[in-house]
Amino acid sequence: MCGIFGIVGSKRKELGRTLLKGIKRLEYRGYDSVGMAALDKGKIKVKKAAGAVDKADKKLNFSELKGHIGITHSRWSTHGGVTDFNAHPHQSCDKNITIVHNGIIENYEEIKSDLIKKGHKFRSETDSEVIAHYFEEKIKQKPIKQACVDFLKEIEGTFAVLMMKNDEEKIYALKRDSPLVLGICEEYNILGSDIYAFSDRTDKAVFFDNDEFAVIEKDKYQFYDTKGKKITKKIQTFVWEQEESLKEKYPHFMIKEIMEEPRVVKRLLMSLKTDQKDNFNKFIDMIIKAEKVIFAASGTSYHAALLGVYYFHRCSDVCGIEAQALIASEFEHFANVDSNTLVIAVSQSGETMDVIEALKFAKKRKAKIASMVNVPYSSIQRMSDISLQVLAGQEICVAATKSFVNQVTLLLSIAKEFGFKINLDTLSERIEEMLAKKDEIKKIAKKIYKNKDLYVLGRGLSYPVAREVALKIKEISYIHAEGMMGGELKHGTIALIEKGTPVISLISNKDYDMLSNTKEVEARGAKIIKVTNEFDGDIKINTSNDGKFGVLAAIFGQLLTYYMALELNLPVDKPRNLAKSVTVK
Ligand code: G6P
Repeated sequence: MCGIFGIVGSKRKELGRTLLKGIKRLEYRGYDSVGMAALDKGKIKVKKAAGAVDKADKKLNFSELKGHIGITHSRWSTHGGVTDFNAHPHQSCDKNITIVHNGIIENYEEIKSDLIKKGHKFRSETDSEVIAHYFEEKIKQKPIKQACVDFLKEIEGTFAVLMMKNDEEKIYALKRDSPLVLGICEEYNILGSDIYAFSDRTDKAVFFDNDEFAVIEKDKYQFYDTKGKKITKKIQTFVWEQEESLKEKYPHFMIKEIMEEPRVVKRLLMSLKTDQKDNFNKFIDMIIKAEKVIFAASGTSYHAALLGVYYFHRCSDVCGIEAQALIASEFEHFANVDSNTLVIAVSQSGETMDVIEALKFAKKRKAKIASMVNVPYSSIQRMSDISLQVLAGQEICVAATKSFVNQVTLLLSIAKEFGFKINLDTLSERIEEMLAKKDEIKKIAKKIYKNKDLYVLGRGLSYPVAREVALKIKEISYIHAEGMMGGELKHGTIALIEKGTPVISLISNKDYDMLSNTKEVEARGAKIIKVTNEFDGDIKINTSNDGKFGVLAAIFGQLLTYYMALELNLPVDKPRNLAKSVTVK
């Protein structure tokens, strides 16, 4: 959460525009407020305001900022409300130090009260502001590099920090747990929360590891370890499909990304036979060698993982792969991990802090780590023993759609290797057919979008899908939705069913139990929307395969959500309070 971006060596008149472009590319990480600082002729100018980038830009005209060095930040609030004052950058009392920060300074209260005693005046309610005052105080006694060493020692919590000083043409960058990467360009250097920040400018990057800091200048840079000793870092060359970040003819990224699903599925399946073949085989080998598999994931990725468990258990008629899926933030409380366990992280961003923490816990217990990530070179990928790419391409809408479809396709491909029966070659075609039902789905959306509550029921493979459909509806349409096991409803929640309550029922094949659960709510007046490949229904899914049903029913939910949000006139791509990459616990 929070996007940070900085440049050293910009053309003077282009600085504001470059910062604006950079932060827009990271806005999916949070859009509560935005701010910029530009160093021009020995003076730092700061502009910041609450609101998303376009709104703040209209008010402040960021493009007019000039200089060769600048930093910028888009915020997802943790400490302190969504206000102009709490927006980054933050400055020291003497305005000599200016910082942007992504992460949480856990011991900020302690540090703050100490600094207040020394006479510092704070202007915001954030934890981040202490960083500026901390350095102001430190550099009274020692060189700034030594202060960086102290910072790594004394600060508890997570951070990616970019810092400017009035009198230096440099950016100081420090990192622990929050993502930070340096992009190397010919005439300047760029820093960003991830490679999206600068993938239109360079394909060369240096990834910060934990507890490192670096001093970045126009044409050189130097990394340091916790003791302040110089370290040499590897420059990575990355490949990224640029055209995917453009909205093209679609009104929203969400619908553009849903419509890309047939294509990205094909691309993934092809890569598993070509570029990713070796890795795929090694991945399979690691599953064979493990006594059990535990998935760690959050949000939509957790639902993909839960589907994975279902498919893994059904790889053969006798006994499938021993697998379990845990929500990453609860991993350490519920996982029984040892050196014979393979922990598989599933993550679109590859940066979700809860997943990273789960992996750290698993590593300590000597488990092997595998991952499936969409954003290449992400932290989760880099901390894995083996990693497969989801290859959905850049996903900009905060709600995951095409990345979910490709995560599930990847899990199905693995399950197939172990005997799960599915012909994946026709999956892309089936998705096209599902997308062609968009007008039917739009009609359903128009019928139910005014409801305050709705329920989505599933059983077996359709249970994780029911949860995913409900999550999409909550995130994007702001309608309270519960995704439930059909069989569990009668143990309490059925009390909430009233005349007209919409209940979406996902019935794959001859699931008569699911059909009975549907009848039970219908008898109590619920408005049923039946999604089925077997019985009469509102949406007919054209597959008899349970694996494909899971994917197609989820796509139904994505389209339904999109059309409900349109009816409600909601900000589809940037739903309130959410962020795409959640880098806090
Ligand atoms: C956030 C996003 C969700 C996403 C979840 C997990 O909450 O808003 O869309 O499913 O994080 O993210 P990951 O990147 O690990 O898949």
